Amino acid sequence: MSDATCRRPLRISLPKGRLADDVARHLRDGGLEVPDFSTSRQLTLRTADGTQEYIQSKPTDVPTFVVHGGADIGFSGLDTLREEGVDVLEPFTLPIGICRISLAGPRAWRHVDLHLKDHLRVATKYTRIASDWFVSQGINAEVIKLNGSVELAPLTGLSDLIVDLVETGRTLQANGLVELQHVLDSRVVVIVNRSASRLRENEVNRFLACVRPGPPGA
Ligand code: PRP
Repeated sequence: MSDATCRRPLRISLPKGRLADDVARHLRDGGLEVPDFSTSRQLTLRTADGTQEYIQSKPTDVPTFVVHGGADIGFSGLDTLREEGVDVLEPFTLPIGICRISLAGPRAWRHVDLHLKDHLRVATKYTRIASDWFVSQGINAEVIKLNGSVELAPLTGLSDLIVDLVETGRTLQANGLVELQHVLDSRVVVIVNRSASRLRENEVNRFLACVRPGPPGA
């Protein structure tokens, strides 16, 4: 990391979308000043004292910014982090963004032994998580990549099943699908660039102290 990089403010990567409000609220509850991205088209916003700079990106890009040093600290869903497979520090998780990754499909599949299927087709945004899980279970599956509206796949015959994020379960229910197997529990993870954790140790630790959830009931 160059001197110029070291002189810049501590940079924090926030996800857009479903986690954005909960993460910002958690940081503000910890006493941090988090700029409001909803009132600006700017993608980088600094705190009033200029010591911290927040950036906002697609959730899947947060681990990328952090692992390559574009940001020092980030907030990512565990699902996204495992899917991206990056090498960052994961000091602790937060009790927000709680959801799960599940194998799901039409109700009739509840009675099917997946180990006996020789050509199972599974659509997902999470190709790495799904492929690893099928290998771990000894199930043969062709994993088909989609970028969204994954529930459409079994409805249209594109796939037999899906591996997807489930939060309330309403999307599955609305599309006549059920959870078949639990794959991964997810919640927000605080991630830190390995070099930043050494070169900016004091700043990183001061920031993390505000973010770390207290003991239950504190
Ligand atoms: C996610 C996920 C499910 C839905 C689950 O999609 O892929 O479709 O949310 O949430 P629920 O259990 O609360 O219904 P998202 O809204 O991110 O949009 P996408 O389909 O475009 O990926």
